[in-house]
Amino acid sequence: MTTYKIALIPGDGIGPEVVHEGRKVIDTVGEIDGFEVKWEEYPMGADHYLETDELIAEDTLEEISSMDSIYLGALGDPRVKPGILENGILLTMRFYFDQYINLRPIKLLEGVWCPLKDKTPEDINFVVVRENTEDFYVGIGNRVDPGKSQNHLEVLREQYKVKFDLDIENDDEIAYQMGVMSRKGAERVIKYAFELAKERGDTKVTAVDKANVLSHIYNFWREIVEETSRGYPEIEHEFSLVDAITMWFVKNPEWFQVVVAPNMFGDIITDLGAMIQGGLGLAPGGNINPDGISMFEPIHGSAPKYKGMNKANPIATIWAGAMMLDDIGEKESARKIMKVIEEILKEGRVRTMDIGGKNTCSEMGDAIVERLKTE
Ligand code: NAD
Ligand code: IPM
Ligand code: MN
Repeated sequence: MTTYKIALIPGDGIGPEVVHEGRKVIDTVGEIDGFEVKWEEYPMGADHYLETDELIAEDTLEEISSMDSIYLGALGDPRVKPGILENGILLTMRFYFDQYINLRPIKLLEGVWCPLKDKTPEDINFVVVRENTEDFYVGIGNRVDPGKSQNHLEVLREQYKVKFDLDIENDDEIAYQMGVMSRKGAERVIKYAFELAKERGDTKVTAVDKANVLSHIYNFWREIVEETSRGYPEIEHEFSLVDAITMWFVKNPEWFQVVVAPNMFGDIITDLGAMIQGGLGLAPGGNINPDGISMFEPIHGSAPKYKGMNKANPIATIWAGAMMLDDIGEKESARKIMKVIEEILKEGRVRTMDIGGKNTCSEMGDAIVERLKTE
């Protein structure tokens, strides 16, 4: 029997609850389809940080490197200053494992209420390919206290071996943050988007930016889109400014097939994407390194207000689990999980509160597990 070793990081808030359901579903489908998952659970998150001061250790990252995948709940806790856990654990993993693709399907399933009037599952079925290691996420920036007129921009990411000198003449208190894009970084994600369009039988790739204002970084992005597109004459491409695309997602979601976006805009537009597919409780994502170890998680966060209440919708996380199984090669199991999710949503008998029902997180997990056993 094939055995997979998967790092399990439940994390904060509703993370442990939703991941518990995801794990149940994966174990069940494994029993049915004849594979086993050996879960290696890690305590990374707010409690662990507050107790030990540790975010994620180098040794842990190294240990995880030898595993088949990573399954993550969410990180972030109101007791900890914003960014500490998110940067120190989540982004550290994305960067360490060079998971340069953040793959986020935007797909409205039957039976799910859509806030867009008159839009159906036929209209909302596209995928956002978000760049996942660069842009405004590189961590280059600083806060300059008043009185410290001479300061240097700090470069925190080793890979960009550059040193900027910036003289700040006056005594103003300032903070700054920079975006960085490398040719290699942009090329690999844009190429991935065109390849994905080809694989899906799509005819168009939409590239997102804000080249009209942040012209250095995003005209570079546009050039690389143009260059890459020449290798795919059968696929057309278009550009959309990020402000406009939020409007088009609402007005004409049926236009989109594959959308490729720089890191920060990709983050923002996929919460909107989640909402047009029925909400954050239904939106999965994969942080992918096609040649290395990938990490799967819902795109939502730790939703602290629902922590420990057994109210969250676990479907986003279970769907992310299906993406993980697809990625490690258990494609039939992934397909089965998706079929069951679709059936349960279409029937509408079991519904968590975010999608208009009264069922708990674990009841939704149980319903999916039970249905899998009868498939
Ligand atoms: P959030 O995604 O955690 O929640 C926003 C709202 O969406 C919730 O209050 C809830 O109403 C709804 N929601 C989200 N997931 C749901 C689910 N599974 N079922 C039902 N409803 C759900 O966003 P936030 O409140 O802005 O962030 C909370 C914390 O999570 C912050 O610390 C943030 O940094 C962190 N965060 C982490 C990740 C991650 O780990 N990948 C992603 C986003 C945010
Ligand atoms: C997401 C989250 C993260 C991001 C945060 C928590 C670092 O919002 O996964 O969408 O911005 O990528
Ligand atoms: Mn986000």
